[in-house]
Amino acid sequence: MRMVDIIEKKRDGHALSEQEIHFFVDGYSKGEIPDYQASALAMAILFRGMEKQEIAHLTEAMMHSGDVIDLSSISGVKVDKHSTGGVGDKTSLVLGPLVSACGAKLAKMSGRGLGHTGGTLDKMESVPGTTVSLTEERFIHQVNDIGIAIMGQTACIDPADKKLYALRDVTGTVESIPLIASSIMSKKLASGADTILLDVKFGSGAFMKTLESAKELATTMVGIGDSLHRDTRAILTDMDEPLGLAVGNALEVKEAIATLQGKGPKDLVDLVTIAGGIMLEQAKLAQTREEGEKRIQEAIASGAGFEKLKQLFASQGGDISYLDHPEKFPLAKRQVEIISDRDGFVTHIDSLAIGVSSMQLGGGRATLDDAIDMSAGILLHKKVGDKVERGDVLAVCHTNKEGCEEVFANVKNAFNLSDEEVATRCIVHDYVC
Ligand code: URA
Repeated sequence: MRMVDIIEKKRDGHALSEQEIHFFVDGYSKGEIPDYQASALAMAILFRGMEKQEIAHLTEAMMHSGDVIDLSSISGVKVDKHSTGGVGDKTSLVLGPLVSACGAKLAKMSGRGLGHTGGTLDKMESVPGTTVSLTEERFIHQVNDIGIAIMGQTACIDPADKKLYALRDVTGTVESIPLIASSIMSKKLASGADTILLDVKFGSGAFMKTLESAKELATTMVGIGDSLHRDTRAILTDMDEPLGLAVGNALEVKEAIATLQGKGPKDLVDLVTIAGGIMLEQAKLAQTREEGEKRIQEAIASGAGFEKLKQLFASQGGDISYLDHPEKFPLAKRQVEIISDRDGFVTHIDSLAIGVSSMQLGGGRATLDDAIDMSAGILLHKKVGDKVERGDVLAVCHTNKEGCEEVFANVKNAFNLSDEEVATRCIVHDYVC
């Protein structure tokens, strides 16, 4: 088999066979196929697309390029969730403890933040002492012991995706649904859970800008899960404003704590209730989504979810006095109010601009090697649908940096106001089951 023939076949719009796809993934992982040929194929896939069967073969080949975690020594149904990335997305830190408190087992591998999106691992590390580097043995033991563990993805999982994703990033080939879907699903499938819930975000702060493109991605990923016999479902959620009110690591952990104590913002509460209902149904711990949602609401009201969050951090070395006393999280030296200079109603908050601004205030990283200021970020005081009067605070920027005048202006410009009253946004727009 020759790589050039595979590239030409896809260039001319034909479907690749299972053998051809394996030849490419194996050869590229081993360094036998050069970057220039891999990028030519990625570009051909971007233009020509892939059939359902080809996407399943690509996913399977990437999944088996490294370790596939064996969670069979954990009793019960192992559930997992994945978000395609957003701004203010602290869902895992609320949803994970809630489904675990309801009896599901969550053995989750998460990522770090990059660019305008945050990562669960960074958020967890804002609680002093917390480690996210667990051995596989400790990870499995912890899930058996307390029903939940969250760790960083090991280097041995899906090395083909690591290499291909880095290449796509610099060759203009990220925005291909077959490539995004196989990249996400190969990692999820290698992580070993029995069920997967995908939170596919759309809007200004998300990969997918429209509901239609998000639905296409979700349908493709659910199709991959089905063809590999894994119960996979998806929800399509709004990212046309940040999720909740807090953006930035420690600020988001504080919001996660408040949410588990029954004081969360409506969009976040709705999201974890609906997602949790589906995950409990997938785990066969509820007959219907509605029954699952009721159990999630009870786990918030009883404090069982918050207790599970404390167990999670305690097991991973975190100082849980910060969870009981969130006022212990250090505040940034500067808290700068962003003031509205007009009356009106908030119609839209540009999530991308808020995410980038939070990063520039110190709360995120532009490259993987950048250090993060855990206290930096943005607290929104207004959400879409809210009435605003001239002089009202729209948001507060938290930073230890000097200057930042341009960032403050960008945060102000992220708020779009109109004279007309607007409805609040609903968080979940559609389902793919
Ligand atoms: N996230 C991934 O893991 N892979 C992609 O291709 C895009 C987003």
